[in-house]
Formats: sequence, C-alpha cells, structure tokens
Amino acid sequence: MTALVLGATGFVGREVVRQLCVRGAAPVAHVRPDSSKLEEWKQTFGEQGAIVDATPWDAGALAQTFKTLFSRGAGQLFICIGTTRSKAKTDHVEGNIYEKVDYGLTKLAVDAAVGSETRPRLVYLSSVGANPKASSKYLAWRGKAEEVVMQSGLPWVIARPSIITGERDESRVGESAAAVIGDGLLAVAGVLGGKKLRDKWRSTTPDVLAAALIRIAEAPESDKIYDGAELR
Ligand SMILES: NC(=O)c1ccc[n+]([C@@H]2O[C@H](COP(=O)([O-])OP(=O)(O)OC[C@H]3O[C@@H](n4cnc5c(N)ncnc54)[C@H](OP(=O)(O)O)[C@@H]3O)[C@@H](O)[C@H]2O)c1
Repeated sequence: MTALVLGATGFVGREVVRQLCVRGAAPVAHVRPDSSKLEEWKQTFGEQGAIVDATPWDAGALAQTFKTLFSRGAGQLFICIGTTRSKAKTDHVEGNIYEKVDYGLTKLAVDAAVGSETRPRLVYLSSVGANPKASSKYLAWRGKAEEVVMQSGLPWVIARPSIITGERDESRVGESAAAVIGDGLLAVAGVLGGKKLRDKWRSTTPDVLAAALIRIAEAPESDKIYDGAELR
C-alpha cells in the first residue's frame, strides 16, 4: 500500500507522515517545489523514513507521479491542504484564497488522480460545518471541495474535525482562544446532555486526528464522512 500525503508540511499532514513512518509504511511526503524549507523537509522526513516528492502543482505532472506511485494497486492519497489569510498573503495569493487554494488545489489533485487511471483512496481533511451553501466563504469552498472528492468516481473518505489545536510553528491566537472557550462551553453542554454536540464541536489535536485519518484510510468501507467521536 503506497500512501502519498499532500500538505505533508502542515500541522496535521506532518503528523500523518510521522505516524505512517512509525508504522513502517514509508509514505511519500509531498512538499511544494518552491518551498523555502524543501531541504529541511527532505532531511526531517528522510530521517523519519519517508520519501519526499516535490512534483509541481500541475495536473499533468501530478498525474504522472500518481501513475508511478499507485499503479501497483491500492494506494492512499491524503489531502491535508489549505490556506489561511496570513499564509495566502505570504504566498501572494489574491482574490478568493479558499477557492484558489483549499478548493483549487484539491480539485487539481483529484483531477490528476482520475487522469492517472489509478484508483487510490482519497482521504480528504475537511472541516466541521463544510457545506457548499454555507455563508462562510471558507466553509462553502470546503463544501465544494468535498463535492469534487465525492464525485470523483474514486473511493473516498472525508474527515470533518472541529478546531485543531496545539503548538504550531506560527502563532494562531484566534484558533487557540476559540478552542479553549469552545471546549469550556461544550463541557457544560456535555454535562447538560448535549454529548453529540460536544463530540462534534470540541477541539482536537494533530496526533489524535492523524491517527483517525490513517484509521479511516484503512477502514474496510469507503465513501463515508466522519466527524465528532469517530475522529478520536
Ligand atoms: N486548523 C484548524 O483548526 C482546522 C480545523 C478544521 C479543518 N482544518 C482544515 O485542515 C487543513 C489542514 O490543517 P493544518 O492545520 O494542518 O493546516 P496548515 O498547517 O496550515 O497546513 C496547510 C498545508 O497546505 C499547504 N499549502 C497551503 N497553501 C498552499 C499553496 N498556496 N500551495 C501549495 N501548498 C499550500 C502548506 O504547505 P507549506 O507548508 O509549504 O505552506 C501545508 O502543507 C486546513 O487547511 C483546514 O482547512 C483546519
């Protein structure tokens, strides 16, 4: 089984790579070729036992990479990609950043997987509340990205976690504050009988989420959306 992780340098993606390595899976960690930290990532992932791939974000090039990796049979394509306002600014992404990155790169990867004529399982890291009709731009484009995954004709699983918290390279004060306040309120809701609500919305951590992503990647059944307690 070959596993390729897109977004391998992210908070969650890097933990998926690490945990796959611990299991002896020798995953392929995708790093964008123009990453200023490409050499650092090659070293870090190499020491863990992963192989670094730096195929450009181009449908034809990615299809070729997928063909090489997945043509021997079943495989897993983890998609842990997404941007934030500050990251998009650094990357000089303008306009609708969620359409261009969260949706755009997911669509590009899924189209490339279909074009490669191989059949990896798509393991898509989405978000609680994703819905093409959501009023939030972020959630709407996440919902549209989910549709691309579900309509690909490939086997898929989707994870919809709530806030992912923990120590990041860069500070995300809003995220940490939302996790603390939200979890406090949800603890009260849990005591008052809102256990499902609490499970769905309470924060998680990259290690717990990565383990869940690997688990749902391997689950016998596919074409399923997971959230709440199923991701713990
Ligand atoms: N954080 C949360 O609380 C939360 C909650 C629910 C769902 N999610 C979803 O889960 C996804 C992953 O979360 P995370 O915390 O692991 O995100 P993250 O740490 O920001 O990682 C995002 C990944 O996407 C890549 N990326 C971003 N912009 C790119 C671009 N323009 N071109 C190519 N690659 C790009 C990054 O590569 P570089 O390292 O090279 O920039 C990185 O590998 C998020 O996108 C988010 O929508 C997050």
